Amino acid sequence: MLDLTPDELLTTTRTVRRRLDLQRPLDRALIEQCLAVAVQAPTGGNRQDWAFVVVTEAERKAAMADVYRRAWDRYVEQGVLAPPSRPDDPTERRQARRIGRSARHLVDHLHDVPAIVVACHHGRFDGRPAVVQASMYGSVLPAVWSFMLAARARGLGAAWTTIHLFYEEEFAQILGIPYAEVTQVAMVPLAHSVGVDFRPGRRAPVEDVLFWEAWESGG
Ligand SMILES: Cc1cc2nc3c(=O)[nH]c(=O)nc-3n(C[C@H](O)[C@H](O)[C@H](O)COP(=O)(O)O)c2cc1C
Repeated sequence: MLDLTPDELLTTTRTVRRRLDLQRPLDRALIEQCLAVAVQAPTGGNRQDWAFVVVTEAERKAAMADVYRRAWDRYVEQGVLAPPSRPDDPTERRQARRIGRSARHLVDHLHDVPAIVVACHHGRFDGRPAVVQASMYGSVLPAVWSFMLAARARGLGAAWTTIHLFYEEEFAQILGIPYAEVTQVAMVPLAHSVGVDFRPGRRAPVEDVLFWEAWESGG
């Protein structure tokens, strides 16, 4: 276990793509330990309707990587989220280019990552009311983050990814997931990290996003 304070762990758990050690074997027991931590996360009504598929077989990883590459092409073409708030800001542009290069590296090497963890939630919530969607996503995403923290604490690196969900059904077929009954929420490539020194990420100051008592528009 790394010697990190809780705040150090929380602020230095990064999306690791280029520093995934693709050569070093990854012990199955380590993955299981991280998942044992993950399932301590909260879920609505303590239902624990989650499931995790861990893939280590070369052929299946190659099939996943093929879909991921297509998803990346589609992402580059059409994006997922709204455009950045300050597209002309040189720092933001530099950062976007850096993330793009790192993300591209993962596209090219996904099949070589020792393990890929796919987090799922039972049920489908496409088009359901916000209360349902928030409850269901909120009942599995904390576990994904806990998994990444537990991995970091053990000297592993992980990357939270979602773009493969452009092709969720195809992914379900590769993994034998019953698509009509189970929603995939994240795919987390996992490996030992190359070195363990990670710094806090670049974030806007909290004052920019903090409102006391009520939302202030244009503040
Ligand atoms: C919901 C979510 C979806 C993401 N999807 C992807 C993805 O599909 N591919 C990828 O390379 N990174 C993905 N990321 C990683 C982000 O790019 C990354 O968290 C962000 O650039 C900040 O970097 P950091 O995590 O190192 O602080 C995703 C992160 C989150 C939280």
